Amino acid sequence: MTTAQLLALDTIVLALVAGCWLGGGVAAVLAGRDRSPRTARIAAGLVVAALVCTALRVALTVGLAGAGWWFAADKLLLALPLVVVPGLVAAVISLPRLVRLAPGGAAVAGPILIAGYGGLGGVAAALTVSYPVSPVAAGVITGLVAGASVPTWRMLSGHPPSRRWSAAGGTAVLCFAVVWAGGAVWSSRLPDRLNLSAHHGSGAVAVPGHSGTGALPGRQVSVTDLRESAAAERPARSFTLTARPADITLASGRVVRAWTFDGRVPGPTIRVRQGELVEVRLRNQMPDLAVTLHWHGYHVPAGDDGVAGVTQDAVRPGGEFVYRFRATDPGSYWYHSHDMANPAVRMGLFGMFVVDPVDPADTGGAAGDKDATGRAALSDHTVVLHTLGVAGTVAVDDQVPADGLARLRVAPGTPVRLRVAATDNVPRTLGLSGVPYRLTAVDGRDLTRPGRLDDRRLRLAAGGRYDLTFTMPSRPVLLSVDGRDDLGLLVTGGEGAAPPPARGPVLDITSYGQAAPSSTGPFDREITWVLDRRFALLDGVPMLAHTVNGRVWPDIETPVVREGELIRITVVNRGRDTHPMHPHGHHVLVLSRDGRPVTTGPLWMDTFDVGPGEVWEVALRADNPGIWMSHCHDLGHASLGMTFHLAYEGITTPFDAGRASGNHPE
Ligand code: C2O
Ligand code: CU
Repeated sequence: MTTAQLLALDTIVLALVAGCWLGGGVAAVLAGRDRSPRTARIAAGLVVAALVCTALRVALTVGLAGAGWWFAADKLLLALPLVVVPGLVAAVISLPRLVRLAPGGAAVAGPILIAGYGGLGGVAAALTVSYPVSPVAAGVITGLVAGASVPTWRMLSGHPPSRRWSAAGGTAVLCFAVVWAGGAVWSSRLPDRLNLSAHHGSGAVAVPGHSGTGALPGRQVSVTDLRESAAAERPARSFTLTARPADITLASGRVVRAWTFDGRVPGPTIRVRQGELVEVRLRNQMPDLAVTLHWHGYHVPAGDDGVAGVTQDAVRPGGEFVYRFRATDPGSYWYHSHDMANPAVRMGLFGMFVVDPVDPADTGGAAGDKDATGRAALSDHTVVLHTLGVAGTVAVDDQVPADGLARLRVAPGTPVRLRVAATDNVPRTLGLSGVPYRLTAVDGRDLTRPGRLDDRRLRLAAGGRYDLTFTMPSRPVLLSVDGRDDLGLLVTGGEGAAPPPARGPVLDITSYGQAAPSSTGPFDREITWVLDRRFALLDGVPMLAHTVNGRVWPDIETPVVREGELIRITVVNRGRDTHPMHPHGHHVLVLSRDGRPVTTGPLWMDTFDVGPGEVWEVALRADNPGIWMSHCHDLGHASLGMTFHLAYEGITTPFDAGRASGNHPE
């Protein structure tokens, strides 16, 4: 069984455990009162069922522990003891008496009911406790179970607590609950101003004997100084992007209201050549929305990362900001606003950013995709998948987005490169049919010797990019989205009907190719991100939040690293959602998934999809000083807590996030 299946089964068994023990307890109370053999039999049956379910939960927990302590700690330390201890007493003392119909009062029904309370405690733990186990939450749950058990026991043994004691106890519990909840709500409120300047070392464990070479202790550098100097050189390429609302007419004629750059969605493609100094002037003409530009996947200097409240103040209506950086890394990237990122991106404030290599031969795709003369005249296109209003759309280059099949004409024999980006909050399944193809690049980085794919499908993470290459055949080629024949891109050269969408198996990108990972340590630092979903207070509001190490923004620890360090990050998904993890300013080298080493050479990603129950190990080279937001690129999850940072020692920011700051990065 996969870890995800174990987790799903555990959720079901968890409810059964609580239900059977409670049901058995109530039946045992009734059997004792009515002296009814039938009720006693029902009670005994329920207790046996409860014991079986409890044993099953223990077995599932052992299985989960095999997949990693992260998955089992809450159960072994909290949920199971609460039910197993009274459950064993019930099995040894209560069950035989029930079967014999022996009178027993508290000794019969008590342990069974208490096991039921323990089962409920397990449900509460599943809803509120993650990894690591919070001692406060564990204490409160244990206290509640004990607090319910004591009066129950007294009642069953014929000594109900006196009125006065019940009243006093009830009042005390109520006062405690009110004070505790009030305090929790208050302390979870987002502060008016929140500054992310790097403090020393929380959350990252330094490996003894290793340390980086970077900033000297005590030296402080502001992110605003981590920028390309403005005076030194005239930019080779200048662009202006103006944020403004607009009505977008899709290819079908349907009109959608959008937030745009230059009146278009996606915004204009910014395409430059490797080595050029690029300048992009952002102007804000939105009536009441602040905007920024974040260069997703691109390693800009920290001061140009475009995160409101961390690397700049959000650009207010009427304002502007100039980004300036050198385009050193060829590949496919995208840009988007990073203030209130979730609505901003959903409504259209994004576009493609492509850096062409200096040597155009590098863009020719994989070997073997050359034309007859050996010289590839590449047909190179961006393909952006985004939902606008209710319509799934496919935007090719700077054409009007198609809410259906986009079309492209390419002469047979031409090498083609499609740079596909998924800009929604959900992953997309791509299929390319009608031609063998290669997955040439992932998140802007070329793979070495990617193999030929026939009819295979690909899963592209939310925020990720795949470059697909092939040589145009004489018959049409279909890039299908999510298996649909009416959403995607139809590339035609000669004659013929569109092929059906690819139906083959989904490629496992961690085992695509032959080479082994090029970096396996030694590591200077270890960071663990355990992803989960649980009830938490987010800015004072209780909700089912998305958590990292049991916490939500802004309480998630910020690991502080040193320039030059090699860091191993372990990402564990304890929940049932897929989380496309996106550290800003860096790519990570994927080392392993679920303990299996990656054999794709080398797999560098800036947005990697951590599925339910999965454990990813990735390496990050700290070579870009700054304060870097990291988050789930399901931007809905990011806004429900899954937003955190990675900071370099000695880096400060003059900008604040928080209520009064006007900056809302997530
Ligand atoms: Cu597309 Cu914070 O990222
Ligand atoms: Cu997520």
